[in-house]
Amino acid sequence: MTEYKISLIPGDGVGKEVTAEGVKVLKAASEIKNFNLNFIHYPFGSEHYLETGDLIPEDALNEIKKTGAIYLGALGDPRVKPGILEQGILLKLRFHFDQYVNLRPVKLLPNLPGYLCPLKNKKPEDIDFIVVRENTEDFYVGIGGRIKKGTAKETLEIRRELYKLKFDLDVVTDADEIAYQIGVVSRRGCERIMKYAFETAVENKREWVASVDKANVLTSIYGLWRETFDEVSKNYPEIKTEKLFVDAAAMFFVRNPERFDVVVMPNMFGDILTDLGAEIQGGMGTAPSGNINPGGVSMFEPIHGSAPDIAGKGIANPVAAIWAGSMLLDSIGEKEAAKLVMTGIEDVLKEGKVKTPDWGGASKTEEFGNAVVRAMKKYI
Ligand code: NAD
Ligand code: IPM
Ligand code: MN
Repeated sequence: MTEYKISLIPGDGVGKEVTAEGVKVLKAASEIKNFNLNFIHYPFGSEHYLETGDLIPEDALNEIKKTGAIYLGALGDPRVKPGILEQGILLKLRFHFDQYVNLRPVKLLPNLPGYLCPLKNKKPEDIDFIVVRENTEDFYVGIGGRIKKGTAKETLEIRRELYKLKFDLDVVTDADEIAYQIGVVSRRGCERIMKYAFETAVENKREWVASVDKANVLTSIYGLWRETFDEVSKNYPEIKTEKLFVDAAAMFFVRNPERFDVVVMPNMFGDILTDLGAEIQGGMGTAPSGNINPGGVSMFEPIHGSAPDIAGKGIANPVAAIWAGSMLLDSIGEKEAAKLVMTGIEDVLKEGKVKTPDWGGASKTEEFGNAVVRAMKKYI
């Protein structure tokens, strides 16, 4: 029997609760489809950090490298300063494994009661597109800093020139502090994400690839982004293209999501707009993602975070995590099992009995996972 090693990082808050259901469903799917999933559990997250001071050590990354994929919950804890866990674990994994694509399907599931989509009269075929978010560049590269009292005179001098400020370098006060963060994109980085977006359109028989940027203001980085989009598009003459500014793209997500097929976005805009995408497809609890390195180790996770407002209550919606699990199965080549998981989710929705509170029900996270397993077993 084929066996796959999967690294499991439940992480924080609801991440632990929803991945527990995901693991349950994936294991059931593997039994039905006759293969073996061997989950290797890693404790990385806030508890581990608060106890040991460790985020994710190098030897763990080396071990994870030998596994077929990573299944992750969420990182983030109100007890820890924002950024420590998110950068130190989640972004570390994305960058370390060069998972340059963040694939985020925005799809209204069939059988989801109409009222769960905040857009009036939308059907599953109206909200069905794929966001290809660049995942390693842009404002996420981590170059930034704060310039304040006690900082080297040279940087203060630059600042004084830049803003035509009048201050004496020897008498700098706290009020003179500035902070900056630099966005970086590379031609290679743009080329590979554009190529992935066009290939995604071809594979999924989609007609359009839209590119989102803010090239009218952030002219350097998104000028290069746009230029590369135009160049790469020439290799795909059968695919139609459009270029949108991010503000208008946000409007179109709400006004007519049916216009989109594949949408390629820089890292930060992709992050923001896919929370909007999650809402139009039924809520944060429904939106999955894959951090993909086509030739390496990929990582699958819900797009939502650790949801401290509902964590510990056992009421988080596990659909996003289970769906991300289906994407994981697809990526390791278990296509039938991947489809079975989606059919399981859709059947539970059709039955309409098990609903977590975000969907207006009173079911627990665990009950939803169990219901998906029961639904899948009907197909043995
Ligand atoms: P969040 O996504 O955790 O929560 C936003 C809202 O969506 C909350 O009201 C929450 O209750 C709801 N929600 C999220 N997941 C849900 C689910 N499965 N079922 C039902 N409702 C759900 O965003 P936030 O509150 O801005 O962030 C909380 C923490 O998570 C922060 O530390 C943040 O940095 C981190 N975060 C991590 C990831 C990740 O690991 N991929 C993603 C986003 C945020
Ligand atoms: C996401 C999250 C992460 C991101 C954070 C937690 C680093 O918001 O996966 O959408 O910005 O990519
Ligand atoms: Mn996000």
